[in-house]
Amino acid sequence: DSQYKYILSEKVGNQKNVGLVTLNRPKALNALCDGLINELSNAINKFEKDETVSAIVITGSEKAFAAGADIKEMLNQTYSANITGGLLEEWDTVSKCKKPIIAAVNGYALGGGCELAIMCDIIYAGETAKFGQPEVIIGTIPGAGGTQRIARSCGKSFAMEVCLTGNQFTAQEAFNRGLVSKIFQPDKVVEEAIKLGERISQHSQIIIQLCKESVNNAFETGLAQGLKFEKKQFYGTFATEDRKEGMTAFVEKRQPNFSNK
Ligand code: CAA
Repeated sequence: DSQYKYILSEKVGNQKNVGLVTLNRPKALNALCDGLINELSNAINKFEKDETVSAIVITGSEKAFAAGADIKEMLNQTYSANITGGLLEEWDTVSKCKKPIIAAVNGYALGGGCELAIMCDIIYAGETAKFGQPEVIIGTIPGAGGTQRIARSCGKSFAMEVCLTGNQFTAQEAFNRGLVSKIFQPDKVVEEAIKLGERISQHSQIIIQLCKESVNNAFETGLAQGLKFEKKQFYGTFATEDRKEGMTAFVEKRQPNFSNK
């Protein structure tokens, strides 16, 4: 899509069913200025509506996934303008997307860059990726989910250490803590993320949506409520043609042919 200034957006994979967004503001290490977030949000919304796209990959460059919210843009921002303008609210497009989003992270994923990656459903990282929430160093705190999502994914002690020190942590550490699901050589990360998107695309998209919603519930509710939600979603799969097709294909020893109905 050539209309964009700060990102590249294209359909990739053998069947062109994976949407790839590449953050492309190299001079500022992909600092997430309003213009960039606006374009990212627009690209995600387009992929969300595009029935031929089943999964989305967000990546940056080998040097930087994203070095955070744009500090220069925030410098003269005021409290009242944050409230009336809803600073960082547009970022929610990523966390609210119904289709699976994979972050393919190389280089710096700091501040808002780290938060953007964690907003995605799955993180694949390059061996040399560096994560961190350095906001305290510049006199503020994470504002796009860092204090909440790291605490939920990795527990209190690690979240506190990361957020209170501003220290960077490696891809290996992120993997050990369960923040990242796999690590690759830097030049393989995007390719592997696309392959993962293609793998997810083989399944019924309606079932994938129900499944993603159910896993997300684990972060938003207590266990009893989450289990109840999961059961409802599970029962709900029996209202789809694809559930019947999937089980029939297994019994008939053939590949399923899903219709997304
Ligand atoms: N905002 C604006 N510009 C940024 C930026 C950011 N977050 N990060 C880097 N840049 C710019 C630099 O200002 C520099 O621009 P100029 O050439 O015009 O001076 C350019 O990108 C290259 O950066 P460096 O020269 O600093 O590159 P480096 O390799 O020496 O260091 C770095 C890399 C360690 C990532 C360093 O750039 C850095 O510390 N960046 C800031 C990280 C940060 O604090 N992020 C948190 C932002 S706040 C936030 O995100 C709030 C939130 O919760 C949403």
